[in-house]
Amino acid sequence: MKLTYDTIRVEKDNGVTWVIFNRPEKRNAMSPQLHFDMDDALGELAGDDETKVLIITGAGVSFSAGQDLKTYFRETANNPELRQKSQEASNRWRWRRLSQFPKPTIAMINGYCFGGAFTQVCACDIAIAADEATFGLSEVNWGVIPGGIVSWNVTEVMSYRDAIFYAMTGLPFDGKKAAEIKLVNYSVPLEKLREETLKIANLLRDKNPAALRATREAVRTVRGMTHDQAQQYLAAKLTELVAKDKDKGMQKGLSQFLDDKSYRPGFESLKN
Ligand code: ACO
Repeated sequence: MKLTYDTIRVEKDNGVTWVIFNRPEKRNAMSPQLHFDMDDALGELAGDDETKVLIITGAGVSFSAGQDLKTYFRETANNPELRQKSQEASNRWRWRRLSQFPKPTIAMINGYCFGGAFTQVCACDIAIAADEATFGLSEVNWGVIPGGIVSWNVTEVMSYRDAIFYAMTGLPFDGKKAAEIKLVNYSVPLEKLREETLKIANLLRDKNPAALRATREAVRTVRGMTHDQAQQYLAAKLTELVAKDKDKGMQKGLSQFLDDKSYRPGFESLKN
């Protein structure tokens, strides 16, 4: 499996795979090459047995400054073929590949996060930001709209009021505000960000992978359903999980709790 790319770094550590945007001198703006690299890496990592949890983040002071205004927009203006290919790769990895990634995904927002970079934040299951991070739906300041699917992403996770306020004004906000308006789950001081993100990654890594995958698919999918559809779908999903789970997690859990009395999952997190 290829682990060396021009614009990103892939680091594996004990089941947790870090994918790091690596153009710090350009604040990790997303060039066509970065889109090709991310598209390839996520495709490879989806089937990689060593990857139990995926974290995406940025090198240096930025998560990502959004689309690269020079190489993604200006330099492809007269190159429709490159524009088309980079747009396809951009849309595929930031939404399809990430939102359907078969293992848990975490966005760790360490610094600047602008424009197009909101999509990968929203695509990840969990997002944790530094208090000091700076977010901005800055498109309006460039005479464009939050395109790709950014407008859709932000109205899915934020309230309509917050989404339209920040999209229309282009005003920046910090990690604490991002947590308050639910763009991210929560924020911590930058010095604690890596430790906190790893804590959540390790928690997820140690759970039954089949149950975890079915859970995220279930929670994502029911959002567009009626009550009756959700009830039917979830019953079928549970049957599928129990049939497919190699670890037989449900039977094991019941026996540990009811017979051996060795397992009290409801209280585990209180012990830390
Ligand atoms: N596209 C292309 N290059 C960029 C981008 C970008 N989105 N963001 C930063 N860069 C480049 C700068 O041009 C500069 O390059 P240079 O050294 O060759 O001159 C380098 O990265 C460093 O940028 P500075 O502005 O000097 O860094 P600073 O730390 O002062 O500011 C910040 C960082 C706030 C991110 C600033 O660069 C900025 O506002 N960037 C634009 C962010 C933005 O609005 N992105 C949305 C684009 S629209 C969309 O995504 C659809």
